[in-house]
This record gives sequence, C-alpha cells and structure tokens, in this order.
Amino acid sequence: MKVFIVYCHPSEDSFTKNIRDAFIRGITDSGNEYIISDLYKMDFKADITEQQYLRDANYENTPFTEEDVLAEHEKINSSDAIAFIYPIFWTEAPAKLVGWFDRVWTYGFAYGDKKMKMMDKAMVLCSAGNPIERLEQFGLLGSMKKVMFGDRLFNRAKQMEFVVFDGTSREKKTREGNWDTNLEKAYEKGRTFFEKAEEVFTVDDKIFTAVENSESGEVSDQTIFCYHQKGNVIWAEYSGGSIVKGFLIGTMDEDHNLHFNYQHMNIDGNLRSGSCDSSPAFENGKLRFNEKWKWTMGEEGTSVIEEI
Ligand SMILES: Cc1cc2nc3c(=O)[nH]c(=O)nc-3n(C[C@H](O)[C@H](O)[C@H](O)COP(=O)(O)O)c2cc1C
Repeated sequence: MKVFIVYCHPSEDSFTKNIRDAFIRGITDSGNEYIISDLYKMDFKADITEQQYLRDANYENTPFTEEDVLAEHEKINSSDAIAFIYPIFWTEAPAKLVGWFDRVWTYGFAYGDKKMKMMDKAMVLCSAGNPIERLEQFGLLGSMKKVMFGDRLFNRAKQMEFVVFDGTSREKKTREGNWDTNLEKAYEKGRTFFEKAEEVFTVDDKIFTAVENSESGEVSDQTIFCYHQKGNVIWAEYSGGSIVKGFLIGTMDEDHNLHFNYQHMNIDGNLRSGSCDSSPAFENGKLRFNEKWKWTMGEEGTSVIEEI
C-alpha cells in the first residue's frame, strides 16, 4: 500500500521535520511505501493564476496544462491514501499548502465530474505551538479540522484522522518534555497507518440534515446539524430552513442512543426548546437517527436525521 505525503515546513531545523521522519520510518517498517511532495524543497508555486481561477470558477472542464499540478494529480491517483504534515500557522496550514489546495484541487479533478481517486484514508499530522486545551476552548481546533475535513477532504477519503502535536512552540517546556513521546506517536501512526482501525462509533464532526419530521416540528431538509462529541458528551449547532440558530447538548449512552436538550430561535423570532431521545440506524449505508422529541410546552413528535 502507498501513502502520498504532502509535507510543508520552511525549515529542516524544526519539530515538524522530526515528525515527518518518524512517520516515514513507521510507514516503511510496516512494509508499506510512500511518495512525498516537500512543498518548500520543490518551491511549489502557491498562487493560482487568473487563467486557472476563471477555469475553476466557471466550472470549465477544459484540459488542465500546468505540469506541476498534473504531477500532483498523478501522485494522488497512484496512491491509496494521503497524509498532510505541517505546522499550524495562524490556525491554518502554511500559505504554501493552502495554495497547494487552491491549485491542485482543480475542477474536473477534485470537484465536478471528479477524476480524483477516493482515498482509503486521509491523515493530518500537525504541530501546534499552543496547548490543545487552548485550541479547543477558543474553537480553533474545531476550525482547523472543519477546514481540512469538512471542506478540503470532504467525500474524498473513506476515513479521516486529525493528529495534533500540541505545546511544541520553542518557548514551551512541553516541546522538549514531550519530544520522544511525540516522535514515538508519529512513528506508531505511520506503522499502523494501513491497519484497519477499531471502529469507534462517534458523531464527532458528522453533519446531518432532517429527512422526516412531524407536523409540529420545525427542522426540515433545509436544516443542517453539525455534531461534536467528546467522551459521552455530544453537542451540535443547527440552522437553516425555519431555524435561525439552534444548539443542543446531551449524552450518548452505551448503545449509542442520544439524549439531549435543544433550544433554537426560529424565523418568527420565537425561542423554542425541548428534549429528545434519538436512536441510531443505518439505511443504504448512511447513518440516521430516529428521534422522539418533546417541546418544553408539551407537544411531542418524531423526526429522522440523516448524515450528509
Ligand atoms: C508564523 C507562525 C504562525 C503560527 N501560528 C500558530 C497558531 O496559530 N497556533 C499554534 O498553535 N501555533 C502557531 N505557531 C506555532 C507553530 O505551529 C510552531 O512552529 C510549531 O508548533 C513548532 O513546530 P516547528 O518546530 O516544527 O516549527 C505559529 C508559528 C509561526 C512561525
């Protein structure tokens, strides 16, 4: 099996370079192969041309001619999986990698009538100067994951994993203190990369829409739910259709049923709230939740949400 590594760091004197090397050792020790695009070493051009902008923005599937982009397409389609290794710069990937997506995710390859192969797996290994608690509290980790998985890799990989090596800024004791454990972790991520991961049922980062609802319900197929999970705590934001903004929070039990309270503002400016018990089911390979809900005012109903 082969993984295509997209690596982006301006310096070899870096923690991220060590993560890259440990991950590669893990890949080769497990008998797998890799190819790599080291974007700084390649001097990869980050700026999209006006010509490409007009082609992609107008959904024109004219033959693509830029050789360096075609080479990246070829690397993707000759691999089984993809891994991105980079430091977080201002809650994003370095500009060169952002530019790589602008240029390589072309119309007709990554979207539209796409020729891009579905990756078996996509993994992000990124270093962050900040501790993970801070990234979570300020919603920065969620933003980073959302951009990579909710947009760039959305529907382009069967399985996705986001690995953060946090607290690695040079002023932090944790950089040196966790150095060996972090490199061991990167090695293990490489060594076990193609092993079938133990299936963990989670709603984290999953997006749903309502496909059925009772008369007195307010969510619809125009409503989008973005779920999150930490341990057995689940929460979601939802909006769309007759919902201006909604939030829910609750728990997942051992059988993966959800129990939560919800609250939203509807388009008439009314604040509505209630509670819901919801049980999972799979239909045509899609995750659904069958929901039984009750408004705080008393009326009850049922609905079904389905993963997008
Ligand atoms: C321009 C710049 C912006 C950065 N922005 C962030 C950031 O937004 N969040 C963060 O946690 N760390 C940030 N960092 C820290 C990098 O992620 C840091 O370089 C890395 O974690 C340490 O690894 P390294 O030795 O491979 O560079 C930034 C660093 C630089 C140079």
